Amino acid sequence: MDLKIAVLSGDGIGPEVILQAKKALSAIGVVYEHDFIFEDALIGAIAIDKTGSPLPEQTLNLCLNTDAVLFGAIGDPKYNSDSNIRPEQGLLRLRKELGLFANIRPLKPFKGLLDVSPLKREIVEGVDFVIFRELTAGIYFGKKKLNEAGTIASDLCEYTEDEITRIAHLAFQSAQKRRKKLTLVDMANVLETSRLWRKVVYKISADYPEVSLDFLLADNAAKQIISNPKQFDVVLTSNLFGDLLSDEASVITGSIGVLASASLGEKNALFEPVHGSYPHAKGRNIANPFASILSVAMMLEHFGLTEEAKKVCEGVEKAIEYNVVTIDLNPDSKFGTNEVGEFISNFILNKD
Ligand code: NAI
Ligand code: MG
Repeated sequence: MDLKIAVLSGDGIGPEVILQAKKALSAIGVVYEHDFIFEDALIGAIAIDKTGSPLPEQTLNLCLNTDAVLFGAIGDPKYNSDSNIRPEQGLLRLRKELGLFANIRPLKPFKGLLDVSPLKREIVEGVDFVIFRELTAGIYFGKKKLNEAGTIASDLCEYTEDEITRIAHLAFQSAQKRRKKLTLVDMANVLETSRLWRKVVYKISADYPEVSLDFLLADNAAKQIISNPKQFDVVLTSNLFGDLLSDEASVITGSIGVLASASLGEKNALFEPVHGSYPHAKGRNIANPFASILSVAMMLEHFGLTEEAKKVCEGVEKAIEYNVVTIDLNPDSKFGTNEVGEFISNFILNKD
């Protein structure tokens, strides 16, 4: 298979972890005889430095015309929340322009990491769920206002029936292939948008009679996701709640450095680690590359390359087995980002 992949490493630890993801993908290309063509492009702080824009048109055009985007992270603190132009604007606009309405975040702890989580082993063992987070609407994209005196601010949260419908179908389809349980997380007791979510999702559930549907208020979900995470199969939620809950859920897996995601639209697909740019770790060879490497596995799966995806996951499992992990997973580890990435690509190339 030939695939053209736009690589947007971003800033902070982005370039370091994405380098390892590219190595894993290249190794898969060699072993399974695929032609993966990488095209690097600017986004985030580096793009602002060089072009004045967090998402240069050239980058956007490239992403619109590739098979997939591999994204690192953005968020250099030199552009703080007082800056008019911020790196995060680049990612938000990219998601919108590519129509990436569904962010899919699987959560299944690795066997070798069950004791890394601060949660009790009996809570963590056997957890296997996936969060479907709406990604191109809601409060992150609503009109923002600040009065002249700077004393009153507002962010509009808006959802249309269509925006809910398209992600709900994806979530139900996923549930149908899994344990047939879907939980909608919302705040229907106080938010009008949540009441619309409930109405629309309930209506769609008629198309999926085998899937059982539950509703859970977001504050309760925040508790349940770490006190009884085994109950979940597919969690469907809006942009803001999905952002919060997936960071919280990372506690189950031991580190946010192992969580991968796929963002899908009708025409485009982007794969990225759940974590941000972790600026403090930039250039120190300590960032965990697993999340980026596992995002590559999700990319391969997306293109129907199931065996190849499995190989990448096995590489991560082997690294854990041999304790070739970064310090977030083992504080005494002598291995860094590079060594972990090298171990996995060598495993794929069968050089270990
Ligand atoms: P962050 O995810 O960058 O870091 C939070 C903490 O998670 C770190 O202190 C570290 O303990 C851990 N961590 C994150 N990635 C790790 C990795 N690969 N290996 C080991 N540990 C890791 O979130 P933070 O500090 O809230 O945000 C930093 C910047 O990143 C901000 O500007 C934020 O807006 C941006 N951000 C960007 C995202 C993206 O590009 N998709 C997503 C989330 C945040
Ligand atoms: Mg986040």
